[in-house]
Amino acid sequence: MNWTPNRIALRNKLIATFPGLFDLALQTMFAFKTLPRWHHTGMELPFPSLLKRAFLKRFAVDYQLEILVETGTFLGVTPWAFRKFFKEIFTIELSETLAKLARNRFAKFDHIQVLQGDSGSVLPGLVPGSALRRSSGLMAITAED
Ligand SMILES: C[S@@+](CC[C@H](N)C(=O)[O-])C[C@H]1O[C@@H](n2cnc3c(N)ncnc32)[C@H](O)[C@@H]1O
Repeated sequence: MNWTPNRIALRNKLIATFPGLFDLALQTMFAFKTLPRWHHTGMELPFPSLLKRAFLKRFAVDYQLEILVETGTFLGVTPWAFRKFFKEIFTIELSETLAKLARNRFAKFDHIQVLQGDSGSVLPGLVPGSALRRSSGLMAITAED
């Protein structure tokens, strides 16, 4: 898929309009395409995204975590999936274009902050001022370029 900014913006709009349909499509694709393919390749790491998110959720529940910090926003799939789950979400994206698209996507969610920059530089500045000082957080490191 060629993710041009216009396509991403359209995709985000469609998902926001039909969130249930998007979840169903994601789960159907996972069950019928991703999971069989992953199994066929010997269930190698990394885990398929939906499984990764299931692990994140498990950790969050087990350790009663309220904050998610994600490095590598990309399309914003993870903050979207957890928008109703965590009290506060910080997501860091290197690309200015992707960060801007994510900011637009999450504009009406006060508890989701999209930070643009290299997570190596942004993270140290994030912790002192944030609720991370008062509450337990979970970090998902998915930036891999
Ligand atoms: C594999 S994607 C992330 C997938 C996403 N977390 C998800 O759950 O769908 C990697 C993203 O990390 C971003 N990235 C790469 N290096 C980065 C860095 N040093 N700091 C922040 N983001 C970075 C890339 O621009 C890309 O959007």
